[in-house]
Amino acid sequence: MRPIGRWLSATALLVWTTAMAQPAGSEPTVPALVKSSCASCHTFAKGEANGQGPNLFGLIGRTAGSAPGFAYSAGLTKALGGKTWSKELLDAWLTDTERVAPGSLMTFFLDDAKSRQAIVDYFAGQQAR
Ligand code: HEC
Repeated sequence: MRPIGRWLSATALLVWTTAMAQPAGSEPTVPALVKSSCASCHTFAKGEANGQGPNLFGLIGRTAGSAPGFAYSAGLTKALGGKTWSKELLDAWLTDTERVAPGSLMTFFLDDAKSRQAIVDYFAGQQAR
């Protein structure tokens, strides 16, 4: 076996096992896209503190504007108060927060449907556990 081939397959295996590694019973790994797009303002695990934005644990199926201890804007409360976060609503929110809730404190636009889908899938999967 040539050394280079061995090195390559060892690296591929390492990448694969790292991606798969997830101790039973723990939070699913937060995807890089969600981390890079949302983690500066939001936390994702159960019971974690609110940041600049509310904690997002169990978002899908949760009532909008209901994270304990978070002071939502009038814009969000007016547009979304009492509504339930569904995959569709989250997709619309990530497409254009201003259109869904004018005057909201979160301004976010993501045109790429695939990236939105990946983010929505993470939150949907979180709820399924
Ligand atoms: C720059 C900070 C910032 C970033 C980045 C950010 N958000 Fe927010 N988010 C907020 C703030 C602030 C609010 C509260 C909005 C309000 O009250 O008007 C919020 C509210 C929300 C809500 C409403 C939650 C509820 O309890 O009803 C959702 C859902 C949400 N964000 C999802 C996301 C996702 C998903 C991402 C990443 C793709 C993201 N946010 C990125 C600041 C941010």
